[in-house]
Amino acid sequence: MKPIIAPSMLSANFCHLEADIQMVNESTAEWFHLDIMDGVFVPNLSYGMPVIKAIKSKAEKPLDVHLMIIQPERYITAFKDAGADLLTVHWEACTHLHRTLHQIRNEDMLAGIALNPHTPVSFLEDIIQDTDMVLIMSVNPGFGGQKFIENSYHKIAALKDLIIKKKSNALIEVDGGVNAETAPLLVKAGADVLVAGNSIFKHANPPEMIELLKNAKK
Ligand code: DX5
Ligand code: ZN
Repeated sequence: MKPIIAPSMLSANFCHLEADIQMVNESTAEWFHLDIMDGVFVPNLSYGMPVIKAIKSKAEKPLDVHLMIIQPERYITAFKDAGADLLTVHWEACTHLHRTLHQIRNEDMLAGIALNPHTPVSFLEDIIQDTDMVLIMSVNPGFGGQKFIENSYHKIAALKDLIIKKKSNALIEVDGGVNAETAPLLVKAGADVLVAGNSIFKHANPPEMIELLKNAKK
């Protein structure tokens, strides 16, 4: 199976956002990846509801929204209303993760859990059946264009084992430092969804880069 490609709009040109949305619409990428930061959970701010709504109005593919915010349960309906199709919250940001995931599903969105680089996959043992996707952060969240953390391959393989053991259908998504070198190894380790920001949007030919990532051989 070829991986799902989710271009991260954080690396798009915000002066020409419509052109970058159109590029993704016309490419072989399946999803739009949207990074929401609150300046508390991560040391950076990104964008919020008006930008998500604007992207939704032009996007012809699902919005995969990655929340790097504390207490995400406060905004689940607001993200649904803004246009999210898949909402991912951080394991580290949720005191009542089980409740939050079910709140997301009750709003007819898919529910994902993101893990920071230091959070072990084994912490998902009792929640893996309640999630549609696990996002393995392969950089410390907060910024695009960072160096890939090598231990992520091992975490993906461990997650794959857990998913099989628990008979879960969760997808494995990887986010941070995904490029032509890391993509084949990530797919080989078991990744189903590749998020890529800089490697796509800073490339001379973004649709070609999307194709390259998509055809990363197992
Ligand atoms: C980082 C974000 C990523 C980021 C990836 O906190 O979650 O989605 O945009 O950017 P690259 O692919 O450039 O590492
Ligand atoms: Zn992200």
